[in-house]
Amino acid sequence: MTDVAVLDPVVGYIDEPIDPSLDLFDAIEQLKREKNAVLLAHYYQEPDIQDIADYIGDSLGLSRKAAETDADIIVFAGVHFMAETAKILNPTKKVLLPDLNAGCSLADSCPADALRAFKARHPGHIVVSYINCTAATKAESDIICTSSNAEHIIRQIPEDQPIIFAPDRNLGRWLMRQTGRDLVLWEGVCIVHETFSEQKLLRLKVRHPEALVLAHPECEEVVLRHADFIGSTSQIRRFARESAHQTFIVATEEGILHQMRKDSPEKTFIPAPPESGCNCSQCPHMRLNTLEKLYLCLKHEQPEITMDEDLRRRALRPIERMLEMSAAIK
Ligand code: 13P
Ligand code: SF4
Repeated sequence: MTDVAVLDPVVGYIDEPIDPSLDLFDAIEQLKREKNAVLLAHYYQEPDIQDIADYIGDSLGLSRKAAETDADIIVFAGVHFMAETAKILNPTKKVLLPDLNAGCSLADSCPADALRAFKARHPGHIVVSYINCTAATKAESDIICTSSNAEHIIRQIPEDQPIIFAPDRNLGRWLMRQTGRDLVLWEGVCIVHETFSEQKLLRLKVRHPEALVLAHPECEEVVLRHADFIGSTSQIRRFARESAHQTFIVATEEGILHQMRKDSPEKTFIPAPPESGCNCSQCPHMRLNTLEKLYLCLKHEQPEITMDEDLRRRALRPIERMLEMSAAIK
């Protein structure tokens, strides 16, 4: 059983003093064992969290893991829409998110009622939504996709079927270029991927002419057009691991570099520079999760993701279609 609940719903995470002599890695491992909990982490989590995770992956891999786990508790080291997806797939399991404030600019850009109104203005269209959206927005969608399977899914939709693609306009534009399809786009952006600077990237390429540029399709077109490879986080990681090249400029959230450097310690990975001199290539939502919050979340089994059953069922349908339509994607 859990200790007395200490979650302040306004704060959104458990805030209590932790003995500074406690080894958080050991303590988290022990709690995972005691509670039969699995820790799923996205590549954009801080390195310590990645190192203690049972599985690290992209949005598709994490959804698949969430669908197949036999753990009693899923602790999601990622953002809210990811933990919600795990709950949609696992209604009887407890799904925990260390900080409920870990949102996403794409999910925020596309509330369900606004998407419903947009659909009404585009009769006859089906809605393919990027997984970076809320459960309520998923429930308004016909098919969900991730950056790993979006192109594969769009290509399976009959040519004469008009499509609304929400909420990421950069991923949508890239899909239009890849498939030659005319998609009606929602105008959402990722605050991390939109900040990479084309000018600074070009200067970096001059200094490292041997480097390949690897970019996530959430980046702006001005950045994507300089990329040698475009793909999801797991596809970028795999490309770098299998490539004979030695140097890579990586245009996505810099958390991914941790696994890329572990995979290939002899290779050089350079984060693509953002526009200003800020830390903008770290996602401020993803980075709300810390080892301390993770420990307290497991200890108290809070904050927990809960969901109305009718909403869950409506959001499940388009996720199941995604999993069926992308079964062939590794
Ligand atoms: P993937 O890891 O699925 O490529 O998604 C990237 C992302 O921005 C997740 O929020
Ligand atoms: Fe959302 Fe961008 Fe952060 Fe991913 S990196 S969670 S898309 S804001």
